[in-house]
Amino acid sequence: MGKNQCEQGFRDGARRKWPRISLLTLGAGYLLWVFLYNSDAPSTSGGAGPRGRANFATGQPATTHNVTISNFNPQGSVSPTSAPDYSYYQQRIQLRPLISSTVARDEFEAWLQKQTTVSFERLLANIGDVELNNLSSTDGVAEGGVIASPSKQAPNYFYQWVRDSAITINTVVSHISNSSQSSGLNLTLVGTVLKYINNSCILQRTANPSGSLQPELEGLGEPKWEVDDSAFTGSWGRPQSDGPPLRAITTLNFLSTLNQSGHSLENVIDLYQKEFKTDLRLSFQSERELIEQALALDLNFVVKNWRKSGFDLWEEVNGQHFFTALCQLKAVSLGRNYYTNIRPEFDNEQKSISGGLHNSFEDILNFLLVDGGFLNPAKNYIVETPQILGQRSGLDIAILIGSLLTHDSEENSPNSEKFPFDVNDSGILNSLYGLVKQMEILYPVNHQRANLNLGVALGRYPEDIYNGVDTSEGNPWFLATSAAAEVLYKVIWHYQSLNQDLVIPLDGWQSEFWSLIFERIDFSLQGQDTWQLVIPYHSPAYNQTMVSLFTLGDSFLDKVREHVSDEGEMSEQFNRYTGFLQGARHLTWSYGAFWSSRRWRDQALKALNAPN
Ligand SMILES: *[C@@H]1O[C@H](CO)[C@@H](O)[C@H](O)[C@H]1NC(C)=O
Ligand SMILES: *[C@@H]1O[C@H](CO)[C@@H](O)[C@H](O)[C@H]1NC(C)=O
Ligand SMILES: *[C@@H]1O[C@H](CO)[C@@H](O)[C@H](O)[C@H]1NC(C)=O
Ligand SMILES: *[C@@H]1O[C@H](CO)[C@@H](O)[C@H](O)[C@H]1NC(C)=O
Ligand SMILES: *[C@@H]1O[C@H](CO)[C@@H](O)[C@H](O)[C@H]1NC(C)=O
Ligand SMILES: *[C@@H]1O[C@H](CO)[C@@H](O)[C@H](O)[C@H]1NC(C)=O
Ligand SMILES: *[C@@H]1O[C@H](CO)[C@@H](O)[C@H](O)[C@H]1NC(C)=O
Ligand SMILES: *[C@@H]1O[C@H](CO)[C@@H](O)[C@H](O)[C@H]1NC(C)=O
Repeated sequence: MGKNQCEQGFRDGARRKWPRISLLTLGAGYLLWVFLYNSDAPSTSGGAGPRGRANFATGQPATTHNVTISNFNPQGSVSPTSAPDYSYYQQRIQLRPLISSTVARDEFEAWLQKQTTVSFERLLANIGDVELNNLSSTDGVAEGGVIASPSKQAPNYFYQWVRDSAITINTVVSHISNSSQSSGLNLTLVGTVLKYINNSCILQRTANPSGSLQPELEGLGEPKWEVDDSAFTGSWGRPQSDGPPLRAITTLNFLSTLNQSGHSLENVIDLYQKEFKTDLRLSFQSERELIEQALALDLNFVVKNWRKSGFDLWEEVNGQHFFTALCQLKAVSLGRNYYTNIRPEFDNEQKSISGGLHNSFEDILNFLLVDGGFLNPAKNYIVETPQILGQRSGLDIAILIGSLLTHDSEENSPNSEKFPFDVNDSGILNSLYGLVKQMEILYPVNHQRANLNLGVALGRYPEDIYNGVDTSEGNPWFLATSAAAEVLYKVIWHYQSLNQDLVIPLDGWQSEFWSLIFERIDFSLQGQDTWQLVIPYHSPAYNQTMVSLFTLGDSFLDKVREHVSDEGEMSEQFNRYTGFLQGARHLTWSYGAFWSSRRWRDQALKALNAPN
């Protein structure tokens, strides 16, 4: 099936207006990345544009022309004093007019502010912690357990999911620093994270339908638990192999955040117990114990199990998935760095932990870039689950969420270590483009916006039929729509922190996403040569482009605004026809996704206003 599908796909691709090899250069870019990565060469890319592009028709290397724009020509008017080399090509490309919201600017800003507060409060209301709520006494929720939603019927989401919990606690981790506190931390929230890790130790050791710790840690692949930590024994899509790596990412982010605030783990446990006059009775007292008790198991699970099939994050398809593999790669990458550079003394004498992680990193990377089939020569976006390409387009918001969760550090520089599938990757951005184009038609709540060049409501994937309770027709999801905004804010932040020109191939396909921002950027019919748009760093055109990206990001959050309740309530979905809340109410992940995109909006704003 795979092969036929591929050929069929390729014919479809070839019928498009450009039979040449632009697609292959997408893959070549990734391979180049591997090369740069493996040779430890500092990345110098960004300015050089597509490299080594050969013209297959003639065997001659094609010439790449820069269309450099420093200032967008105001609509239609070419002033007689314009520079003599101002060419037709430069005048042809324009920024698309965009608006950020369908309500007045200050109304939108006020809503954002309010929704941010509500979202974080609602998220904390779904985590078992006696300092935050009464979930443990009223509902028997374990301390440190995260419920997916308080909804107990139609649908019943009153369980702990390992994936949702890890993502939620990662959001809490990004909120624990507080320079107004003498400790530099919000100790309440530090306690929440400690309880979560402590609770994870219990789940890790509880035998369940996926297995136990023996022989190969398969029990860690169990996706869903009762709120009191007993195993959920009903039939389910198991295992799901994204949970352990996501938990590892969250744990390592927590340790790194503590370290940056100048605290050891021992130290914060002590501070917390004094402040709240309590004994946490944690199953770890030191960082070494936490690593051995919790983190090492999750990392080992990835090393031993990443090749095996499992269910995707939407719990529907058994196979191998881009989202899962990317999370696994990130966990292994952070783990390797930890055992090699941060705590080498925690590795064993033969350095076999870091060695094992190193090997897995190379293998998973190769799987993501080559063997897994996620990069398909007939698609300009990334395919979430290649095995079912016959039944689905492969477009899935999971691609964007995977990129977001694995590119979440607020540090970036041209020299910082590169992790693949960053938000500026053309495969990631074209996945966003593809989802927008399908869903603006698919969901009637978007029809008013379709021709206005505004963000639209996004769902999980175009072929979705889950309605939040059972199956009929899929709907837009809050977490998907927020993810689109977050990608755009992160793209701004990514480029601003690199001090490099913006370089965009003008081939109409590889950079299709950018047609949301620019008009008339398809140059694929301009003969054999290739063209690229170059916008010099911090030129007026560059800044205008960044503002356009920001405006587009805001317009996705504005769509969220249209559908939350007056009290800021979010459920899992909103109805594709009526726009009303649908599916599990107060979905923890919906609030976390909104909060996270708001955090990156602040980062993007800071970058836009920074003097350098
Ligand atoms: C994305 O940014 C990185 C720098 O972090 C750069 O090397 C790469 O070329 C960019 N990718 C694209 C498609 O522009
Ligand atoms: C095209 O622009 C890029 C990025 O600024 C630059 O590195 C390259 O030298 C330019 N090429 C030509 C032929 O001017
Ligand atoms: C928890 O319950 C107590 C009374 O049992 C109540 O006073 C308190 O306000 C409740 N806390 C929350 C966060 O609802
Ligand atoms: C940080 O601490 C100050 C002072 O207690 C408090 O007003 C503020 O809300 C805290 N911020 C966060 C994000 O917890
Ligand atoms: C810590 O964060 C929680 C949740 O946002 C907040 O209610 C509390 O006031 C914060 N604590 C301090 C001391 O700022
Ligand atoms: C932070 O981590 C470094 C190792 O990267 C370590 O040397 C230092 O002691 C840590 N700081 C604290 C407060 O634990
Ligand atoms: C931590 O886990 C242990 C079991 O390993 C449990 O006895 C203890 O109560 C937990 N601590 C909290 C704060 O829940
Ligand atoms: C573009 O914005 C940056 C701040 O992000 C600023 O330093 C620079 O001066 C701006 N460039 C122009 C031409 O206004």
